[in-house]
Amino acid sequence: MARNQTVYVCSSCGGEAPKWQGQCPHCQEWNSMGRLTGVRPADARTAANESIAVALEAGPVNEQRLSLGIDELDRVFGGGLSLGSVCLLGGEPGIGKSTLLLQVAATLAAARPVVYASGEESTEQIAHRARRLGLRGEQLALLSDNSLESILALSAERRAALLVIDSIQTMQTSEAESSPGSAQQLRECTAALVRYAKRSGTAVMIVGHVTKDGAIAGPKLLEHLVDTVLYFDADAGSRYRMLRATKNRFGPVNELGFFAMSEAGLREVKNPSAIFLSRNPQPVPGSLVMVARDGGRPLLIEVQALVDRTRFAAPRRVAQGVDANRVAMLLAVMSRHAEIALSEHDVYVNLVGGLEIGETATDLPLALALVSSLRNVALPSTLVAFGELGLTGEVRPVPYGEERLRELHKQGYRRAVVPRANAPRGGVEGLELLPVATLAEAISAAFRSPS
Ligand code: TYD
Ligand code: MG
Repeated sequence: MARNQTVYVCSSCGGEAPKWQGQCPHCQEWNSMGRLTGVRPADARTAANESIAVALEAGPVNEQRLSLGIDELDRVFGGGLSLGSVCLLGGEPGIGKSTLLLQVAATLAAARPVVYASGEESTEQIAHRARRLGLRGEQLALLSDNSLESILALSAERRAALLVIDSIQTMQTSEAESSPGSAQQLRECTAALVRYAKRSGTAVMIVGHVTKDGAIAGPKLLEHLVDTVLYFDADAGSRYRMLRATKNRFGPVNELGFFAMSEAGLREVKNPSAIFLSRNPQPVPGSLVMVARDGGRPLLIEVQALVDRTRFAAPRRVAQGVDANRVAMLLAVMSRHAEIALSEHDVYVNLVGGLEIGETATDLPLALALVSSLRNVALPSTLVAFGELGLTGEVRPVPYGEERLRELHKQGYRRAVVPRANAPRGGVEGLELLPVATLAEAISAAFRSPS
């Protein structure tokens, strides 16, 4: 595509249109289309192809990975940081992006040159934070600058193995005329960083601020330019942080890493199931533990349901962490196949800890939690469930059944309601399995008192 062609780019989803429109044709946002002239992503792609061709000619691709010094982080990256890769780290302001990348930069800088460039903080502020966190980083160069050209010049001069850009919204390249943070600057700066990374083999990590309402044009615009996209997320007010890879050209996606923000910076959480299970010691109605498998690992999560007589003409259905359509389907299945009619009730369901789970294994535990709330009878606190519900009221197996059973056993649970097809033939030692084939069977098994 020609270099100086004009396109219109949506600041909220990054979608493009050849003509200006009041409403984005991709995400339907109003007044979000901005004019963009200049470097197209095609340029970045060409640069990437060239360097790969060179590497192939030189023999097998040298897929060298750098450990980031934190296991949870290496796991999200699919086994460490690839040289010459570009990673975008998105998250709300204040969530800990600068802290995390400073820790990573200092760790890598023990053995290799690293440049940490910030357009937000002075070098004194960054150095102060590094000292407070007890970071050393023999070969760490801190730079406070907004000019992308001078940052790239320093990185090239130092032959940096890693270049951190904090944040892309504060960077400015002379190739674009608009102000920092505009769609044009964001794209041109990122494209220039991608070209630099592919040419030099320097890994680049870019911070991009996002706000919940997408008020800042940001990471969405850039996702297709970079190799890896990570999102940093937290439950409101919690010190726990979840890092998820939503795109990864060098490893698996949806891999999840867990961290806790402490006085000494971000610490990895080795046993994340423990976070989501800070439960009431007394069993309460409407609560049940399930084993989800999210981000490449089994995870114990508490599901909660509240059922209350409605005072509205149309009863309310509120779902946190699970798909609302899935909950509507569950209610229909419960009504039709287990004679549990909730058409006169408001229904609230929630996954504790702010996690969102897209898998169907939440069906059975949610249904049981709903029944528990409706009957106002607590399920035993030693009980765990997982499984998918079909429209005919059948309980269907879910993937990784044995892995889930091992995890719940490891976390000290001793009884599990599971899809019959997920129950191993010989059982699991130390675990009382309640294999079920239908929703009605599951309800009677779950509410039967422990044998
Ligand atoms: P920061 O990394 O600056 O966030 P971001 O770059 O995503 O905007 O983190 C800011 C928050 O983290 C701030 O509210 C203070 C907190 N924090 C700690 O709790 N412990 C620490 O050791 C550090 C460095 C920050
Ligand atoms: Mg910051």
